[in-house]
Amino acid sequence: MRMKLIAGNWKMYKNSQEAKELVQGLKDCLSKPLENACVVVCPPFTVLKEVCQVIDGSSIKLGAQNLYWEKEGPFTGEVSAGMLKNAGCAFVIIGHSERRKYFGETNESVNKKIKAALENDLTPIVCVGETLQQRQNNQTLRVVEDHVEGALQGIASSDILKIVIAYEPVWAIGTGVNATPKQAQEVHKYIRSLLGNMYSQEVSKNLLILYGGSVKPDNIGDLIKEEDIDGALVGGASLKVDSFTQIVDKSIKANV
Ligand code: PGA
Repeated sequence: MRMKLIAGNWKMYKNSQEAKELVQGLKDCLSKPLENACVVVCPPFTVLKEVCQVIDGSSIKLGAQNLYWEKEGPFTGEVSAGMLKNAGCAFVIIGHSERRKYFGETNESVNKKIKAALENDLTPIVCVGETLQQRQNNQTLRVVEDHVEGALQGIASSDILKIVIAYEPVWAIGTGVNATPKQAQEVHKYIRSLLGNMYSQEVSKNLLILYGGSVKPDNIGDLIKEEDIDGALVGGASLKVDSFTQIVDKSIKANV
């Protein structure tokens, strides 16, 4: 059985004090070792170190929200995969739609970032998904295919299972309107079929695919029941101890 993965994307929220309080609260609530499940928090760069210290000795893992693919150099404002690793990260979100929309991320930059993450032993959580207009024009599967194929260009079959994909319909992010379990399942299943064609049935069967977009304690139960949904990438609801731990608990319960 594929494991469950719940990742919190804190976006540009939480100063040092707030971050420490949130993650301490999560650590207190998630004190039991997780079976066949993984919980990740992805705070802003500025508090990675502090969050890393608080989660030490717990089952919570650390992730970042972006990276730059060069190892080092005159790239003002950027952070490399090696630096993230050094700061204690195990995961990194790549190609989030907010980065595609506001910071000019393309399939090409996403692809380079994934490769840099893999070279540094970071698990990339690669975001794909359509806008509302694209869904209304019946282009959802085509857009997702373009994102998946573009992101995975040149990724060897020996590396592909080190990647996690997050299906995040843009229209569902931060809107309070989640994709229905049926809508999400359709796309997740399609992504698995693409992976089967690009790689193998083994890859299709084992790669983790998360859903993201207005995941809340009251909708995760139904989403996680779907056959091809392995967890969630959570934005707003990851900023509070109570809502994030409820999402984690409900996801883990789906395992039994
Ligand atoms: P949301 O964000 O849960 O606030 O919709 C999800 C995301 O952007 O990853």
